[in-house]
Amino acid sequence: MPSERQPLLEGHTVSKYFGGLAAVNNVDFAVYPGEIVGLIGPNGSGKTTLFDCLSRLQKIDGGRILFRGRDVTRARPYQIARMGLSRTFQSVRVYRKMSVFSNMLISHQWRDTSLLRMLQPSPAGTAHRAHELLEFLQIERLAGEQAGRLSGGQRRLLEIGMALMPNPDILLLDEATSGVNPTLIETIKDRIRALNEQGKTFLLIEHNINFIADLCSRVYVLNHGEKLAEGTPKEILQNEAVIDAYFGA
Ligand SMILES: Nc1ncnc2c1ncn2[C@@H]1O[C@H](COP(=O)(O)OP(=O)(O)O)[C@@H](O)[C@H]1O
Ligand SMILES: [Mg+2]
Repeated sequence: MPSERQPLLEGHTVSKYFGGLAAVNNVDFAVYPGEIVGLIGPNGSGKTTLFDCLSRLQKIDGGRILFRGRDVTRARPYQIARMGLSRTFQSVRVYRKMSVFSNMLISHQWRDTSLLRMLQPSPAGTAHRAHELLEFLQIERLAGEQAGRLSGGQRRLLEIGMALMPNPDILLLDEATSGVNPTLIETIKDRIRALNEQGKTFLLIEHNINFIADLCSRVYVLNHGEKLAEGTPKEILQNEAVIDAYFGA
């Protein structure tokens, strides 16, 4: 376990309430540079809400979030993005009427806040990067397609490409395999592995346990907003409390 190094992303007693509901309750975690970490738990256990807190789309009600050791608890979404954190969404967010390529170009400027900048033509380097990433993700042939016409898996790959445009250090992927056919699940897995070898760190929300077991060195399990367990995929799969949370009720 990478114990001496500084975590890239860490949460200390992170809490988020919706009215009386503790969607995320006192959660501690740390993701170290170069890791692929899983975040699992039954539906409604708070996984997406935790991502919303980390990407700063939701204010937290308690605790602290640190990025490279810096307190970002009150950072704005564009600030955390600029620092090198990108995320994808459980329900894919692409501009359906725009081409795959245009979706990529627009994502480059997410780091910029002004609409005016977003609407300006992109520099040549950006276009080059967009093509390179589409090629890397094996969807370059779809560059001119309307994003709304892609299959579920192709759209997930596009969204990963969009998240990669600002060249983040850590990617938070929310259910990257949902609605994806088995062949493209393998592609996504393979690309995550390749990106990780290039130095990218990942935090993955997943329902696909094989995917988690194949990729992750460590896993956190949420249940009713609380951290139920953490460990290697093997440890987690043998954990009675985890099995109970998934299959007990
Ligand atoms: N914006 C919101 N307003 C009110 N309740 C919410 C909101 N977002 C999520 N919740 C609730 O918080 C809990 C955790 O949801 P979520 O984080 O989406 O879980 P998961 O991603 O693990 O399925 C659920 O009970 C959900 O209904
Ligand atoms: Mg979710």
